[in-house]
Amino acid sequence: MTNEQAMARAIELALRGTGQVSPNPRVGCVLLKDGRIIGEGWHQKFGAPHAEREAITNATEDVAGATAVVTLEPCSHTGKQPSCADLLIERNISHVIIGMQDANPLVSGNGIARLRAAGIDVTVGVLGEECAWLDRTHTKTITTKMPYIISKTGQSLDGCIASHSLESQWITSQGSRQVVHALRAEFDAVMIGKTTALVDNPALTVRHVEGRQPWRIVLDTSLELPPTLQLFTDEFTTKTIVICGNTAATSPNARLLRESGIQVLGCDTDSHGILILRNTFREMLQDYGIASIMVEGGSQLLSSLLQENLIDEYHFFIAPIILGGGKQVFGNFLPTLALAPKLRVVSSEKCGEDWYVVAVAG
Ligand SMILES: NC(=O)c1ccc[n+]([C@@H]2O[C@H](COP(=O)([O-])OP(=O)(O)OC[C@H]3O[C@@H](n4cnc5c(N)ncnc54)[C@H](OP(=O)(O)O)[C@@H]3O)[C@@H](O)[C@H]2O)c1
Repeated sequence: MTNEQAMARAIELALRGTGQVSPNPRVGCVLLKDGRIIGEGWHQKFGAPHAEREAITNATEDVAGATAVVTLEPCSHTGKQPSCADLLIERNISHVIIGMQDANPLVSGNGIARLRAAGIDVTVGVLGEECAWLDRTHTKTITTKMPYIISKTGQSLDGCIASHSLESQWITSQGSRQVVHALRAEFDAVMIGKTTALVDNPALTVRHVEGRQPWRIVLDTSLELPPTLQLFTDEFTTKTIVICGNTAATSPNARLLRESGIQVLGCDTDSHGILILRNTFREMLQDYGIASIMVEGGSQLLSSLLQENLIDEYHFFIAPIILGGGKQVFGNFLPTLALAPKLRVVSSEKCGEDWYVVAVAG
């Protein structure tokens, strides 16, 4: 097995922690002896043992002299778990192959330095880009203290997320909707604007796939949404957060919502009365551990996030349908050609009847 193949396996293992370890990174580890895998592990749950310790625990033979292939730099500090660099040193691992240096300032470079100081060979950057993608949400939160934000749109070929009369169920195929449900389980929260809540009354649950239920966030500046919405009445009400203006946050409506287990967060508004979300996002990471958010629309919300430069990644599900004068995905965002955000496509594939395009800021 080559180093690249072993790292690809470590990434595969790391992905098993999806939806379970946030705001920690997803990490996988493979132990090799004479090119054979003798142990595998991954970070399974927030606060649980790290991938390196799991791989050593699961090893089928003595790990002394083995090579550890790990997607992220082994930690050098004691947090919820003891230091992995020390563990690798204690267990006489002879070579450590690392996908990516950790962006966490508590670790960054220190884990590598500690291993090298103990006489262990260290190689950094094997499948580095793939490992960086694996832990992109962790890298963003640790370096900016802001959650990683993706937009998801089910849209027509001509860029509409709803018809002129606001119908949107369903523009995309069942295949795309299944992928969306898997994405929901991957991210810590899903978010929608008030009009989407009113028009579609979505449950924002994970249905067509197995996975944990993320937080559901809805924006409603004056707390005018009816209490009968699914978000306020189904079995996941305690996973609903309503973001409103600071005045509404102390109103009787806010008290009623809180009494039914819903979280109500006050947020500053701008001179047009629009919620200014940047600080609230930061609070959601700090107070709720929400490290990643998938914004499902509608157009006004997506436009304002784009305007504020808050979207890290875009997921477009594009159906072969034309909606003419419908609601444009980013209809309220009006840049000049020179100032239009340039994206870099990361992947594009057929998804049921639709095309599924993922892009990041270029
Ligand atoms: N195909 C798809 O993927 C998809 C997904 C979602 C929605 N949709 C469709 O999109 C349509 C709704 O979109 P929409 O553009 O009319 O409304 P929207 O974005 O869902 O909601 C906009 C409302 O959210 C509230 N809001 C609070 N803070 C905001 C902020 N910072 N930025 C933006 N909005 C903020 C405002 O109401 P207050 O001031 O009263 O709080 C605003 O009027 C529906 O037809 C829905 O079916 C389609």
